[in-house]
Amino acid sequence: MDGELRVTADFALVASIVWEHDLAEVYDATNAKEFEPSVLDPMIDLLAELAQGGPALEFAVGTGRVPLPLRARGIAVQGIELSESMAAKLRSKVGADAVAVTIGDMTSTCVAGDFALVYLVANTIMNVTTQEEQLAVFANAAAHLRGGGCFVVEVIVPQLRRVPPGERARVFTLDLDHVGIETFDDLVHQVAWSHHWINVAGRLITHSAPYRYVWPSELDLMAKLHGFRCRNRWSGWKCEHRIRKYESGGGLREGILRGIDATAVGHTSRQPQLRRVFGTLAVGLVSGDPPLRCR
Ligand SMILES: C[S@@+](CC[C@H](N)C(=O)[O-])C[C@H]1O[C@@H](n2cnc3c(N)ncnc32)[C@H](O)[C@@H]1O
Repeated sequence: MDGELRVTADFALVASIVWEHDLAEVYDATNAKEFEPSVLDPMIDLLAELAQGGPALEFAVGTGRVPLPLRARGIAVQGIELSESMAAKLRSKVGADAVAVTIGDMTSTCVAGDFALVYLVANTIMNVTTQEEQLAVFANAAAHLRGGGCFVVEVIVPQLRRVPPGERARVFTLDLDHVGIETFDDLVHQVAWSHHWINVAGRLITHSAPYRYVWPSELDLMAKLHGFRCRNRWSGWKCEHRIRKYESGGGLREGILRGIDATAVGHTSRQPQLRRVFGTLAVGLVSGDPPLRCR
């Protein structure tokens, strides 16, 4: 199919990829930039503001990049994490005693508590590789939120428009210590693969995994189906480039959007040039009356 992206309808769908020991060992090193205060501080500021002193729950908490500094701000945080190895890394860190982690799948795992804030960052909604399971993530977030609470999702806008005509891959990182290529393998199910070659202290780490890219409109629909309404979107954690699509139509008041409970997300693209061209998706969601409860 010259000039078109390949569509593979019979692509084998996979469940969430489990981040095993090898990946957990190098996660912090390979994502060192995401741990820098310039990236983390605005995120922590905003999450703390949104929690308004109430408890927070991170889906896919990983090695604790976000909950540890959030806890240090005085916010009680718990996490759900699929990978024992990632959770073990978190538990080995100073301050981890104060962050309870439940091993489980964020599509279905329930933890005790009534949360003011549930958040899912670092594009991790895309680690859930089917539409149905992504929808289940929204259901599970709603089940853990108290009325009026916020679900914050940080995720990149799909980069399909960066793929040259006739090709199905693009280089998204080209550094001396990290080359990354993504291949758009299944346009029907929105499954792409991310391939990495990373140099960690002289050791070559390779990693390939599928993810399900998801458009803002589809996230909006998933959210609505579970009783959320979109309160705001941003292209960064400093609340850059507010898109006010829902302000009038959704009946939200100006004061809410500007006020302390304005919901927002940021993005962690490593490619500022892409951010400039495409912006990034930033979805902020606030719950209505959660339709189901875990407890
Ligand atoms: C990109 S890392 C993000 C970790 C952390 N949130 C951060 O910002 O550093 C993705 C994490 O999501 C976890 N994960 C993937 N699918 C999951 C699922 N279905 N339920 C819970 N955790 C999941 C992985 O094990 C991994 O720790």
